Amino acid sequence: MKNDFLEVLVEISEKMNSMFEIHNLLPAIINIAKEYLDVKRISLMLIEDDVLKMYAHAGFDVEYSDVSLRLGEGIAGKVAKTGVEVMVNHTEGTCKEMGYEASSFMSVPLKKSDKVLGVLNLTDKEGDYFNETDVKVARYIASQCALGVERFNIYRDMRKSENLRVVGMLNSSIAHDIKNLLNIVQSYLELMDMEEGLNPEMREYIDAIHSEVKRIHGLTLDLLDFSRQRVTINIETFRISELFTEIAKHANIMTKDTDIVVEVTALDDLTMKVDRGKIFRVIFNLVSNAIDALGCSGKVRLTAEQDSDFCVFRVRDTGKGVPKEHLAKLFQPFFSSGKHKGTGLGLAIVQMIVEAHNGTIEVDSAEGLYTEFTVRIPYNYESFKELHK
Ligand SMILES: Nc1ncnc2c1ncn2[C@@H]1O[C@H](COP(=O)(O)OP(=O)(O)OP(=O)(O)O)[C@@H](O)[C@H]1O
Ligand SMILES: [Mg+2]
Repeated sequence: MKNDFLEVLVEISEKMNSMFEIHNLLPAIINIAKEYLDVKRISLMLIEDDVLKMYAHAGFDVEYSDVSLRLGEGIAGKVAKTGVEVMVNHTEGTCKEMGYEASSFMSVPLKKSDKVLGVLNLTDKEGDYFNETDVKVARYIASQCALGVERFNIYRDMRKSENLRVVGMLNSSIAHDIKNLLNIVQSYLELMDMEEGLNPEMREYIDAIHSEVKRIHGLTLDLLDFSRQRVTINIETFRISELFTEIAKHANIMTKDTDIVVEVTALDDLTMKVDRGKIFRVIFNLVSNAIDALGCSGKVRLTAEQDSDFCVFRVRDTGKGVPKEHLAKLFQPFFSSGKHKGTGLGLAIVQMIVEAHNGTIEVDSAEGLYTEFTVRIPYNYESFKELHK
């Protein structure tokens, strides 16, 4: 046990100055606090989407990383809800909090102004009970943790708005430049294509470049839509099986040197009247993510089936799955995890396109087992819109 409070202050401020990412900073601070306050267990929980979730802990025998409480639930949940600290010393018997018995328990809110960001829980002071000095120290430590969390959140939001600003710039000039340059490339390709006596292999290459140029063009339009936060829809009529054949062709190229199997089945092959290019991008994005989640081997299954006016697309993979705490963030722009080159725009654009078609997208996943995205899109964009005016 450290008995010099000044030493603790210095140690905590050193950590605050040298660590920025809260997943390093908070465990470091709670370890100092555990030692100074001489408690058996300490945990720090943060509020995320109205749930109090375990962020860092020390001294627990079992794995407590997954513990979460509703606001108002248990002592910690009540502290998170009310912002009022609680100290319980059971001179006789024990109390039960978060599934374990404790003879002394203290729960202090992490506050920024009046807003509660989380809760610091301290359990079982070694051979003693909590006193007023301990409460003051715990308050100080909680305030430092709150400062660290707030500082990190501000930085994250700044980075996000900076990213959005950069994407917004595309709206002005860059996207137009890209479009113009692509038009020139396309014109030259057409000239090459008109050339007589071209060997068939060369013609195949030209076709491939053509289709990729088209795709970059489409992507530029997506980014423009995204930066303006509105989607333009160009209706085309096509069969789902024909769209799937194209997806399968691309998926096979992407998985060429792996043991990944991509299975594509149109269970109900109907005709759709929607923006073909954009629906292609929705499915292609989902299939690409599924392939990324598999690594070198596994299975991706793409199906389409009818549900009254809707076509239901499902993309299921046997990959690493999505951690529970990430599920709510997947569709946020610039959320990317576990990838070297992910920009985190894929699913944000997918959601925009699906909603612009009056559709819905849902995700279901079990970590280490599977992920399944379900997209429901009305077969006929115009008649659906007419009917639901
Ligand atoms: N099928 C999946 N299995 C596991 N995680 C997934 C799956 N699909 C998406 N994710 C997670 O969601 C995150 C966001 O996906 P999103 O497509 O928006 O961005 P990205 O793939 O990282 O980058 P990009 O902008 O290049 O698409 C991914 O980084 C990944 O962590
Ligand atoms: Mg992606």
